[in-house]
Amino acid sequence: MRKTSAKVWGAVLTAAIAVAVSLPAAPPAKTLASFDPQAKALLARMTLEEKIGQMTQPDQEYVKDLADLEKYAIGSVLSGGSSDPKEGNSLGAWTDMYDRIQQHSAKTRLRIPILYGVDALHGHNNVLGAVIFPHNVGLGCARNAALVEKIARITAEEVRATGIQWTFAPCVAVPQDVRWGRTYEGFGEDPALVQELGAAAVRGLQGEDLANPLAVLACAKHYVGDGGTAFGSARGGKGLDQGDTRVDEATLRRIHLPGYVAAIREGVGTIMPSYSSWNGVKCSASKRLLTEILKQELGFQGFLISDYNALDQLAPDFKEAIAISINAGMDMAMVPERYREFIAGLEGLVKEGKVPMARIDDAVTRILRVKFALGMMDQGRSQLADRKLQKSFGSAEHRAVARDAVRQSLVLLKNERGTLPLAKGAARIHVGGKNADDLGNQCGGWTIDWQGKSGAVTSGGTTILAAIRKAVGSATRVTFAKDGTGAAGAAVGVVVIGEKPYAEFDGDRADLSLAAEDVAAVNNMKAAGIPVVVVLLSGRPLILGEVLEKADALVAAWLPGSEGEGVTDVLFGDFAPTGKLSFSWPRTMQQLGERQAALFAYGYGLKY
Ligand code: BGC
Repeated sequence: MRKTSAKVWGAVLTAAIAVAVSLPAAPPAKTLASFDPQAKALLARMTLEEKIGQMTQPDQEYVKDLADLEKYAIGSVLSGGSSDPKEGNSLGAWTDMYDRIQQHSAKTRLRIPILYGVDALHGHNNVLGAVIFPHNVGLGCARNAALVEKIARITAEEVRATGIQWTFAPCVAVPQDVRWGRTYEGFGEDPALVQELGAAAVRGLQGEDLANPLAVLACAKHYVGDGGTAFGSARGGKGLDQGDTRVDEATLRRIHLPGYVAAIREGVGTIMPSYSSWNGVKCSASKRLLTEILKQELGFQGFLISDYNALDQLAPDFKEAIAISINAGMDMAMVPERYREFIAGLEGLVKEGKVPMARIDDAVTRILRVKFALGMMDQGRSQLADRKLQKSFGSAEHRAVARDAVRQSLVLLKNERGTLPLAKGAARIHVGGKNADDLGNQCGGWTIDWQGKSGAVTSGGTTILAAIRKAVGSATRVTFAKDGTGAAGAAVGVVVIGEKPYAEFDGDRADLSLAAEDVAAVNNMKAAGIPVVVVLLSGRPLILGEVLEKADALVAAWLPGSEGEGVTDVLFGDFAPTGKLSFSWPRTMQQLGERQAALFAYGYGLKY
């Protein structure tokens, strides 16, 4: 795999490859295909049922009887965004759940361990008490590949502490329209940036050798063009998420493909085809995209995992949908609830000659390669969780890296009359805004729950208000009113406003104007005649309108995660801002697509 096996696809793509080649890369110890002798020997011993079992991934939430794992020789299980252990959400319960499920694989005839997948997108974000890192939009502004790699390494360690060995990350989407509800999952609007940081994330997660017990299998997603869909092309004629990317092949390759080129060069073990379509054809149904481009041209040796229930969208008849996707090149199906139907359907299709046995063998070989590479097939190596790793789960050391990531991700957009940095010795600082004291809002979607939620969403972590209280000297009084009233007499006001958590299609917005309560909080603060610092927490640029005029200083802090002290490091001058916009910032909704008319251009960011 890597650049030697990637064919040259013509002038446009050559440029993309050239960028990829210049990336620093430590090639993995072994290519995935080097495990073929073992994988093929095992394949030769498998029945059709056992092969199909390897290709099946239910969500633990819907496996009511765990004996199904043995009965169907299931190859993989996932926890979707809100799929917690039935005992509740804690580090112990997650680990027990993983162990309980893994123990069932040992009872199958061939004892092939179960690969457990989860969305660890900004830390091990489903698990209470995990460190929550900034979402990718912020990391794109930090422009620091070494930092992304370090974050991915720590995330891998926290994931492994629960036994899990696979994350559906990194998202290498290149969002082209910030109305998209998944904008924050992408590193930025520029393919070169996404390519560089996506590669760093794969390196950090997988390490140099997947067999390392601290390595976690990565998954580049959502292949391909998920960030390029046309507004109004999504289901029901609304929004962007899961819609249609209407661009020619050269554009698709130039904007949306480079992230995958780089991830494959890094040895990424899995790729998730997108729900979205390319010129009317669902990516998850496209042989051209999955087999011809990804596997044949780019030489991808790992396996493809379908998105959650994505097969359901390919045809009204489920069995037909299975045939379309598997024949297109899908290797494993994420069928959270319909796993029995998938198994019966695929078995039928093979027996009827509608899915060739060679396709099944290719899919299973790819899955087994990855399991061998991960050391999962090593005799005598326990597949149960190594609970010693739990010592550093959510540790101060891990939080320090997250705090550093927060301060590097902040972008200073305005700073009049040297408003920032703030003095730590001011007599009184008045804080306002709905996001000032809300850990859930600062973490965003994909935090504990799929959609995220407002409030004290997880344990550990510091809100921005709490961080301000910690940062100032003992002589400073910090007062707080959510609506920004009562500021009179304060030396300065800090208003923390922006979005509330959302994920995927729920975050698609036709209008990105600030909420009325946010504008009111800034106005109330300003009415006291004091300098006002606005901190915006959001998954994308929002239309600032009059708030830009009212603010004396304005900081885009994105979705910083659990470590609010990274924000105060910048506010109080302990860390001078270095962040640069990873998206161009529109002035009005009308000018959304006109990057030359941007209020702040891509790459903008002030220093003080
Ligand atoms: C998302 C994926 C995610 C999967 C599993 C889907 O809804 O599109 O990004 O990996 O769920 O949770």
